[in-house]
Amino acid sequence: MSKKRVLSGIRPTGRLHLGNYHGAVENWLGLQDDYHCHFFVADWHALTTDYEEPSQIKTYSSELFLDLIALGLDPEKSVLFVQSQVKEHSELYLLLGMFVPLPWLERNPTYKEMRDQLKAKELSTYGFIGYPVLQAADIIMYKADFVPVGVDQLPHIELTREIARRFNHLYGEVFPVPGPLLTEVPKLLGTDGRKMSKSYDNCIFLDDPEDEMRAKVSQMVTDPARKRRTDLGEPEVCPVFAYHKIYQGSEKREEITAGCRNASIGCVECKVWLADALLDKFLPFQERRGELARKKGYLEEAMAEGSARASKIARATMEQVRVRMGL
Ligand code: TRP
Ligand code: SF4
Repeated sequence: MSKKRVLSGIRPTGRLHLGNYHGAVENWLGLQDDYHCHFFVADWHALTTDYEEPSQIKTYSSELFLDLIALGLDPEKSVLFVQSQVKEHSELYLLLGMFVPLPWLERNPTYKEMRDQLKAKELSTYGFIGYPVLQAADIIMYKADFVPVGVDQLPHIELTREIARRFNHLYGEVFPVPGPLLTEVPKLLGTDGRKMSKSYDNCIFLDDPEDEMRAKVSQMVTDPARKRRTDLGEPEVCPVFAYHKIYQGSEKREEITAGCRNASIGCVECKVWLADALLDKFLPFQERRGELARKKGYLEEAMAEGSARASKIARATMEQVRVRMGL
């Protein structure tokens, strides 16, 4: 049986943090062998919210591209590319826009939520309300069968499905109707106990230097009932323990669970164990990333090659699309 096709994207909005890693990239790593994977840096998407301050997007895109490779996405196995280097995305986006009913976009819950949340930015724009159409173009361009995403993106995948069906209905069967590949995303919070987000200034970044990572972990909020060393704690309500669940083997996890509940361990040492585990994982990443960054021309070449592979697929799709639409 031939492999199914997977596509997903990530916005270049800044340095990668643990939330980004466990929310997306980690899942992608597990798909590389079983699917034809296409992963891309969604720089045009970043522009839909950051159009007033676009100066960093290009730098972030390059940095992110290198991060993805250093984390283990293999440019030989997967098609890795930057959205704006494959101009076909914009053409498909424009054509889809001709037949997407406005109410489909207006009722998108993510649209309303984000617009209200990001009050500081003026998001009553054409680009912002149309962004799920761009996302649909990204996905169906590669005739993806599956799109690995978190639950927050489900409305966009549903919209993509409707758009693919509508295209096929109007112009003839071209696109498979893609489905979400819902990956279980562990609930990991920022150092202050809220969702990890750049705008809350509560992120642990993958490239934080050792002392900074240790300092941040030591400041993480814990079970609020454990104010003193002698207070009994409950790991299941502690944001630190949510990380231990991922980073520790079962033995250590049980030791922590018992020790927290009977107060035989303290939060200070518990956090040191977490910092150790994080550093075990991400110091080697930082090293690999440094090596790649020092290889002259490596990044540019990898980007160009990945984008060329993506373009080849995109060009073939667009030829079909133009014929079907009578262009
Ligand atoms: N909208 C996604 C996000 O904000 C990023 C994205 C853009 C994407 N195009 C995509 C994800 C296509 C999956 C498939 O995280
Ligand atoms: Fe959280 Fe560990 Fe403190 Fe328990 S001991 S409250 S799990 S940090």
